[in-house]
Amino acid sequence: MRILFICSEYEGLVKTGGLADACRGLAQSLLAAGHQVTVMLPRYGVLYQHSTAEWQSVYFNLAGRDFGCAVRHFNLDGVDIALIEHDDFFRRERPYDDGEHGYSDNPLRFAFFCKAALEWAQQCEQPFDLIHGHDWQSAAAAYYLKQHYGNSSLAQVPFVFSIHNGAYQEKCAPHWRHELDIEPQRHDDLNFLATALSYADKLNTVSAGYRDELMHEPQAAGLAALYQQRAADFSGILNGCDYAIWHPAKDPYLSANFDAADLSGKALCKAAVREQLQLSDTKLPLDTKVPLFVGVSRLTGQKGYDYLLPALTLWLAHTTAQVVIMGTGEARYCNALNTLQQQFPAQFRFVHGFSEAMAHQLEAAGDFFLMPSLFEPCGLNQLYSLRYGTVPLVRLTGGLKDTVKPWPGRGATGIGFYEPDISATLQALKQAEELYSKPRSYRTVQQNGMAQNFSWPKAAEHYVALYKQALWIKAH
Ligand code: ADP
Ligand code: GLC
Repeated sequence: MRILFICSEYEGLVKTGGLADACRGLAQSLLAAGHQVTVMLPRYGVLYQHSTAEWQSVYFNLAGRDFGCAVRHFNLDGVDIALIEHDDFFRRERPYDDGEHGYSDNPLRFAFFCKAALEWAQQCEQPFDLIHGHDWQSAAAAYYLKQHYGNSSLAQVPFVFSIHNGAYQEKCAPHWRHELDIEPQRHDDLNFLATALSYADKLNTVSAGYRDELMHEPQAAGLAALYQQRAADFSGILNGCDYAIWHPAKDPYLSANFDAADLSGKALCKAAVREQLQLSDTKLPLDTKVPLFVGVSRLTGQKGYDYLLPALTLWLAHTTAQVVIMGTGEARYCNALNTLQQQFPAQFRFVHGFSEAMAHQLEAAGDFFLMPSLFEPCGLNQLYSLRYGTVPLVRLTGGLKDTVKPWPGRGATGIGFYEPDISATLQALKQAEELYSKPRSYRTVQQNGMAQNFSWPKAAEHYVALYKQALWIKAH
């Protein structure tokens, strides 16, 4: 099959979270299964460093305005990367916001991106069999494809839409409907995600658990009725883990490599991270019997910080355990994390920022990985943790519930809890300590986790089956 991805992030090129990992993991696995994949991305500022050998120009009209752009290509590990180049819209430092607020022209930027992608696909010498959009940034393509291309070569091309995060909907004021030439059936305001839910041929989200949660409020963030209406076309396909990148025995970012049979390298990674973080004013003791809890995430409410941070404050006063959290995001969480570090200088570190190297090093160094999310469509960090022998502590929701088996119990791979509140989180932290104090039980849970296999090739097979259903719908 010849497949066009319309997406806004891609691991190795531009990333604000797991969407990038998922788009790359799936594209690579489809390629390995013999399919051709073109990944369409906006040419953000950071993407000007890539030289683009081949290019085409595209001109079109959107809501009475004439637009033009270049589509520039390069090859990344066998995948054709096609960049929509428009300096005014995309040549900015960050993809969606200025660091604090979303760009006010995001509706136009991403509607333009979608329209340009379809125009280019229409004039492509080799037609595409299917278009696969990811998240709200690709949603306008579902609408335009149905409403603007009825008489074109694209009329028979199905559109599959993946929801990686149902909370990001891009709701905007009614005037945008006119400016973007989008007249969705049911909403006064324009809601990009809702538009895709109505117009895509097939829908999926990134775990079966989250798919079921989206059938109800408040988890569906206002769109449960729409998900219910499309229930027959809406499936859950669990993301995979890219074990070529997340491979503790080969990971080049680590100071020592390790595997399930020999974990001595993991102890060195823990020591290295502790030493590295001691470089600040206050010192973490180097006692290896003290468990190290790590967390790497976007600092948003989604990740459970509203109950995790108060729980950590209570817990750290009564334990010798240590915690390191790395992330970027909302100022209120950054402030609270800085306060925690001041309160517990021997036990707590906040690494404000994000680096791929540090993400790998923390995954390797931890005894436990903190992921107590309020909601989690799939979650990739817990999959990385499992492979790195870093027992995940999760709230049992969405993809976390589908991938982590709570201790105690046969085949347990992590610590789990249900209630999104301080006391349940505190309980889980204490349970993790209890597990760590029983080395044999801890080792069993760790080994169970390392033996899990969340394979992208398997996920890709499910996507291909979904693509075939979408093609069938179009043909009948
Ligand atoms: P989400 O997509 O909701 O952020 P996932 O667990 O699916 O959560 O994916 C997280 C991915 O994003 C991991 O590869 C992680 O290392 C990376 N990541 C975490 N925090 C940041 C950040 N602040 N900036 C960029 N990438 C991040
Ligand atoms: C989103 C979700 C996360 C998921 C990722 C990739 O960012 O928050 O749970 O793993 O997309 O699908």
